[in-house]
Amino acid sequence: MDFALTEEQQLIQQVARDFAQQEIAPVAAKHDASGEFPRDTIVRAGELGFMGVEVPEAYGGSGLDTICYALVMEEIAAADAAHSTIVSVNNSLYNNGLLSYGTEQQKQRFVTPVASGKAIGCYGLTEPQSGSDAAAMRTRAVLSADGSHYVISGKKAWITSGPVADYMVMFAMTDPDKKAKGITAFILDAKQDGFIRGKTEPKLGIRASATCEIEFDNYRCPVENRLGKEGQGFAIAMDVLDAGRIGIAAQSVGIARAAYDASLQYARERKAFGAAIGSFEMIQHKLADMKCKLEAARLLTLQAAWKRHQAKHTQQRSTLEGSIAKLFASEAAMFCAHAAVQIHGGMGYSKELPIERYFRDAKITEIYEGTSEIQRMVIARLETGLR
Ligand code: CAA
Repeated sequence: MDFALTEEQQLIQQVARDFAQQEIAPVAAKHDASGEFPRDTIVRAGELGFMGVEVPEAYGGSGLDTICYALVMEEIAAADAAHSTIVSVNNSLYNNGLLSYGTEQQKQRFVTPVASGKAIGCYGLTEPQSGSDAAAMRTRAVLSADGSHYVISGKKAWITSGPVADYMVMFAMTDPDKKAKGITAFILDAKQDGFIRGKTEPKLGIRASATCEIEFDNYRCPVENRLGKEGQGFAIAMDVLDAGRIGIAAQSVGIARAAYDASLQYARERKAFGAAIGSFEMIQHKLADMKCKLEAARLLTLQAAWKRHQAKHTQQRSTLEGSIAKLFASEAAMFCAHAAVQIHGGMGYSKELPIERYFRDAKITEIYEGTSEIQRMVIARLETGLR
């Protein structure tokens, strides 16, 4: 067993760290306050190859492995979680499904602009009445009489990057009687008629990552833009989420690290009762617990990324490892952000420092791409073989 990163992985980690600390960290508070989508830094991320880390160079990406993707996510999230959310949707949720299930023509047309950062992708699974119970979606896709296109009607909710997306990988019922087996995946072009964006959601955290509802009003999707076979959509959605959850685990590690690093520095510098607060046992306990959770979260995340990369060749699933990493790392991020606010006291509660932002941003990692409750359900089902 070798825990060392390869030279290539170290290099990409350093490039991502420099970019995140020099270009993202300085604008993070401004975008958090305004909620404005950080278009300029996202274009830069695209130029550096971070919008298509695992996408082959032939389709405009960097052609790197899943570990590199996790490293990039950690670095960007340590500077700003909102930026890393935008990066993760392009990489994990949009590109992944197309690369695994798309035709050559679909990859050329829909992956290349998104992987190079020239366009933004999004992923449409959740609906107003179906979040955790994803198979209960109501959006319908009906094949036209001449078989040339599907007519899609319905509404998706909580669509990350929805307000700015150029393309969407989305899921709709083609045969409601078959439930999960009646769901089909499609690639939609946001410029086309019938793709209607709702208002941008005001959110607790990751405020610069734009989120909205999208309504489909008789959207006509050419049959060649169906992704995979009819009825294969739910399996595609779940497979894509297996990859997505590793990205969210890495994002959580980045938030936990930022909260820990700031707390460590503050504990060394801040004096109370004539001593640095880091010399007090109660602060030391908090720092020790933060450090253990951070390190464990990173190891689980890199293990899941490694498994996912291997799985590309073995056709095995990485569902278990992804869910474990996402569950543990998101709870570690919340723990570390909570402890960081407490260690910083009043300054942790002030908007003058990024600590309160880490606290607000951390919460979403326990909710999106499958709540902690769903991760526990997935893990327990796989372990027991029972439902
Ligand atoms: N890979 C491939 N196939 C899978 C799979 C996986 N990981 N998980 C399930 N499947 C297949 C199953 O094998 C099954 O097929 P068979 O009958 O042929 O075996 C089929 O899919 C149905 O599976 P289940 O019976 O397990 O389905 P379920 O209805 O019980 O739901 C669930 C399972 C795990 C709860 C699932 O609904 C789930 O993950 N829910 C959470 C949804 C979620 O994460 N939403 C997040 C939205 S995206 C988001 O948050 C993006 C963002 O904004 C950033």
